[in-house]
Amino acid sequence: MRIIARRTVHDCFWVSDFGFQIRDRYTCKMPDIARRVVSIFKQKFSREPLVIRAPGRINLIGEHTDYNEGYVLPAAIDRAIYYAMAPSGTERCNIYSADMEEGVSFSLLDLNPGEAWVNYLMGVMDGFERKGLPIHGVDCVFGGDIPVGGGLSSSAALCNGFGFGLNQLYKCGLDRLALAKISQYAEHEFAGLLCGLMDQYASLFGERNAALLLDCRSQKHEVIPVHLTDHSLLLVDTKVKHSLASSAYNERREACEEGVKIIRQRNKGVSSLRDVSRTLLHEHRDRMSEDIFIKCLYVVDEIQRTLQGAEFLKLGQLVEFGKLMYDTHWGLSQAYEVSCVELDYLVALAEEEKITGARMMGGGFGGCTINLAQNDKAESFKEKVIRQYAANFNIQPEFYLVNLVDGVSLMDGKSETL
Ligand code: GLA
Repeated sequence: MRIIARRTVHDCFWVSDFGFQIRDRYTCKMPDIARRVVSIFKQKFSREPLVIRAPGRINLIGEHTDYNEGYVLPAAIDRAIYYAMAPSGTERCNIYSADMEEGVSFSLLDLNPGEAWVNYLMGVMDGFERKGLPIHGVDCVFGGDIPVGGGLSSSAALCNGFGFGLNQLYKCGLDRLALAKISQYAEHEFAGLLCGLMDQYASLFGERNAALLLDCRSQKHEVIPVHLTDHSLLLVDTKVKHSLASSAYNERREACEEGVKIIRQRNKGVSSLRDVSRTLLHEHRDRMSEDIFIKCLYVVDEIQRTLQGAEFLKLGQLVEFGKLMYDTHWGLSQAYEVSCVELDYLVALAEEEKITGARMMGGGFGGCTINLAQNDKAESFKEKVIRQYAANFNIQPEFYLVNLVDGVSLMDGKSETL
């Protein structure tokens, strides 16, 4: 019975087919993808690229709190997008997606939001340009193994890896926080999702075997070691992404802002839900619609749950942590209303099987559930999910066991400058 692919080799070196050493500090599984990306780059552009790994993220707890200046507890995972990049020598960008087997060519002087993934990359370049940074065109190939639409922040990884590469190639001197904000800018302005900073931040700042307790107000984090002992982090992918995801996300954000506006009319010191306690919110209940009250209450509670969850993790109290995960889920489902039948079904099944903790993860309306699963229960849980989820929804779910890794890095053995 294979519960989790435990990492056996932490530092793995090999000589690539283009003659220099690639170093992957995390796992020996990923570099095949990186090598493929580099080999395509070499075929297309006939020179050595800079190689970058940009991981996806999970979030242990603290959902829809980031844009309310609250706390979140995310971590970078061992699924990533790999970039091979070099200056093009002109203002043109020639970019090829190895996974989609499609390429685009555009000029830096003409960055108009266009199609799909290209949008994100243009958004990042626009973010650099708006800061007056001296970037020029790039030749670039990328590919990876973060499931798109799975809620593991493939778009944050896409932006972060590209931004990290530009920053290195053109010596812009940005630090990781500035890069995270450029990636967020790309998401806001070029993809239309008014996201918080959690995904971009986690992918850039992640640390091995740890989560980050990120204070989204100060934009600083505390590293919380994650000792899973006899548990694993098992993601179950619903394989659905309902179309209202991004409009509903933006609406939730507006609902929170509306709540804050009402409270602030009488409490000038309140600038976000971070400043609001349960008591204060109740004092203003009659001044807001029931819907806004309920949405705000979820966020106020979730901020506290996240702080409490970080304490439980520090103490190794996984059972207590798991209970909070369920509370978060049913709050997201019934109060915040960002879940869907598929996610609710999987969490209810986990509860029935007495899995330590489970909840939907990320923005909602599809993607993955995150399960804090006892190793000796994980396999039977998986079997049950396969049988029952398929029978109910006629969809085959997917499972990802994840390990926690360091944030975005160079992969060519050169010392990192950020
Ligand atoms: C998405 C957003 C994040 C965060 C989560 C919900 O992943 O990109 O900023 O708001 O949803 O916690």
